[in-house]
Amino acid sequence: MSYRMVDLIQKKRDGGQFSKEEIDWFIENYVTGAVPDYQMSALAMAIYFKGMTTEETAHLTMAMVASGKQFDLSEIDGIKVDKHSTGGVGDKVTLILAPLVASFGVPVAKMSGRGLGHTGGTLDKLESIPGFNIEKTEDGFIDQVKATGIAVIGQSDELVKADKLLYALRDVTATVDIIPLIASSVMSKKIAAGSNAILLDVTVGDGAFMKSVEDARILARTMVDLGKSVGRETVAVITNMSQPLGLAIGNRNEITEAVNTLHGKGSTEFRHFIAELAQLMLSLAGLEKSIDEILTHLDNGAAYEKFVAMVEAQEGDPTAFDQLTADLNVAYRHEIRAEKAGYITEEKALGIGLVAMKLGAGRATKADQIDFEAGINLAKKVGDQVAVGDLIATLYSNRPITDDLLAEFDDALVITDKEVHPKEIIEIVR
Ligand code: URA
Repeated sequence: MSYRMVDLIQKKRDGGQFSKEEIDWFIENYVTGAVPDYQMSALAMAIYFKGMTTEETAHLTMAMVASGKQFDLSEIDGIKVDKHSTGGVGDKVTLILAPLVASFGVPVAKMSGRGLGHTGGTLDKLESIPGFNIEKTEDGFIDQVKATGIAVIGQSDELVKADKLLYALRDVTATVDIIPLIASSVMSKKIAAGSNAILLDVTVGDGAFMKSVEDARILARTMVDLGKSVGRETVAVITNMSQPLGLAIGNRNEITEAVNTLHGKGSTEFRHFIAELAQLMLSLAGLEKSIDEILTHLDNGAAYEKFVAMVEAQEGDPTAFDQLTADLNVAYRHEIRAEKAGYITEEKALGIGLVAMKLGAGRATKADQIDFEAGINLAKKVGDQVAVGDLIATLYSNRPITDDLLAEFDDALVITDKEVHPKEIIEIVR
């Protein structure tokens, strides 16, 4: 069956529902180049305004899966688990969670992405480890998981070709933050990557694509149902991204925070947050562990050992971790201190993520180079009490830190006399 793209754009513009054949057709023809970017971007905008039914989203996901290769991980023994976050600021969860779960003998085979705009990406953080190689063939990926129980690599070009093209297009046409397109983008990659079970971290708040818990719930439900419909055990956790996660925002400093956590350090809240996610991932693989048992693997070096095994298998130099310091090696640094006493009520993730990007830690466009040493270390988090002059954050950059940038940080920071207690995990969707 052949269609005219203009008719399909018009159909969606007028609120129509696509058949499986129509969806298969526009995805196939977009990947071959027969449907040009300008028509695909018009369609994405029509979807943005008119939405898609659950059925259409499922067809779109599977059409995207079919647009590339699918990895077959059956050679690896056991239930393979994967994890995906819809993005955030200071999100170093994978760096800690993947080795922690692998330290219980559950194989973790994960493909990660790069950061863009105010959000960071696991691949960039890993590449700040000297020598670390994020590229592997399918065989290399499988062999590493068989040998070490863990691999975190870059999204293979061969998988979900439609998403590579479509995501880049959505990024420049203001059509990223729409549930059916996010759900199909995430789940097509997870399904094609071949793991049996998937933990989804659906971030919500100022620094996330989903600004309200209601929307996050719909996205989580859509993705969990998509995963289950193709036989993948899937659970979603809705997590708070109204402030950055943890203390470090950047690349090399996030590796430091991850390594410290893997050495049993860090705040009780952060350790607990990671342990709860690990408990869900282990449970997906059929292993029931208590939070205390999981924390033991952070304290006794078992999770760190797995992290080092992965770094070595991917040509990184783990001796770099012997000299890790919280301080970053940059030309310019600036300390932000409290100008009034009270409680930190807000540290807006979006604003702080944008400041980190402008310091050099992120990319405004895909072509930008990242400065691994640039970033922000927070000394206080939402809920902490401060006195005048207390250190709140240190900014690091190899570019002069301008007054405009400091004003932007200031806008993201709210101190009042109200004591607030934010929750990290808002809800679990099964
Ligand atoms: N992450 C993805 O992989 N895709 C989206 O569309 C949004 C976040």
